[in-house]
Amino acid sequence: MKTQRNHLLSWIRPASALAAVSLMALNLSSPAQEIVINYDESKIQPYELPELLVTANGRSIDSVEEWEKRRGEILEMFANQMYGRTPNQVIKPEIKILKEVGDVLNGLGSMKEVRLTFENAGHTIDIDVLIILPESNTPVPCFLGLNFGGNHTIHPMKEITLSQSWMRPSRDESVVNNRATEASRGRSSGRWPVEMILKNGYGLVTAYYGDIDPDFHDEFKNGVHPLFYENGKDKPESNEWGSIGGWAWGLSRIQDYLESDCAVDSSRIALLGHSRLGKTSLWAGAQDERFAIVISNNSGCGGAALNKRVIGENVVRINTSFPHWFCGNFKKYNHAEDSLPFDQHQLLALMAPRPVYVASAEEDRWADPKGEFLAAREAGPVYELYGLSSISSETQMPDVNDPIHTTVGYHIRTGRHNVTEYDWKQYIHFANQQFWGK
Ligand code: GCU
Repeated sequence: MKTQRNHLLSWIRPASALAAVSLMALNLSSPAQEIVINYDESKIQPYELPELLVTANGRSIDSVEEWEKRRGEILEMFANQMYGRTPNQVIKPEIKILKEVGDVLNGLGSMKEVRLTFENAGHTIDIDVLIILPESNTPVPCFLGLNFGGNHTIHPMKEITLSQSWMRPSRDESVVNNRATEASRGRSSGRWPVEMILKNGYGLVTAYYGDIDPDFHDEFKNGVHPLFYENGKDKPESNEWGSIGGWAWGLSRIQDYLESDCAVDSSRIALLGHSRLGKTSLWAGAQDERFAIVISNNSGCGGAALNKRVIGENVVRINTSFPHWFCGNFKKYNHAEDSLPFDQHQLLALMAPRPVYVASAEEDRWADPKGEFLAAREAGPVYELYGLSSISSETQMPDVNDPIHTTVGYHIRTGRHNVTEYDWKQYIHFANQQFWGK
């Protein structure tokens, strides 16, 4: 019952007009302390951001070489205290090409569906990867991002196979008994401008995040986690991965596959994710330096937004609504952001020297656009160590719809929590600039 309620809650984004939301008022589990959501900048308690360029034992850093050691310390903190450690064990997938269509979208490109089957410790998962590429004689750079509703939701084209996987219930009833129906074909096409991506010379690679780990709390019995349970283990330890860690693992496995696909330029993969999948793309990009560009679209709390501001969604709220996203240790910081030994500017800095892009939406106050901007700004000094441009000297947030494209990209656009054509135009422009200086 509790799981079901949490399910529903996960789609409730408190209206920005609300000054406070109480989980008690929603009659959920009874937390010891009421969960208050602040939207008022003047109520933010003074906070100090953990240092980026000072090591755990107090040494200041002024070279790339020293930063690369410091990088390891920071990565360890995020692994042990927030997203949880990813297992090192390598499980080789069985790779099966399910479908290839040489000509789709009126000759604009081709598509392929590839199933990656991982089997271990008596468990199996299938990750179905959809690859749509423009016509090209050379390997194609790609955007890679997980989707929320199955590959068939990203475009109405009939060639994409309808997902058979477990789905969350949908508001428009295009999911029945937790299975997708034909009515869901193309449902998220507004978020995936496939033609525009292809016409700009990029491919699109996507997979359904639920193939890696279904997004509900079942104590990690389904999805990727049990593949790594051996010797009587039946759940992750408190410093081991949650669902975000699982989804990030899946992205790295897709990258492994792309490295074997000669149609794809696997050295130019721009990883992108929206919202919980934006949190995921940042964590994947931090751990796996093969991703050439990392893009966070409205990732908010647990993604690009600073925790210590405690405005909009906060640590206790995210850990209560989504107990499975982060590791057990992260619960220690419920109502205690001031004691966090790290913050999200440090996560963004882990992308350096690779380009990173943070995008916010004006009405998305739940995700704290200002906190996203400040984290992107505060990551800047690491880029500067590499001699790269950053937004560290921006004293104010840019105007809406006025993107800044240094090696650290940032924009805030008008509108709500979403991925729009405007966002994609910026990402394509940014990738062109970063990959080819054009
Ligand atoms: C909820 C959650 C956010 C998350 C979002 C999403 O609103 O509170 O943290 O980013 O869902 O993934 O859609």
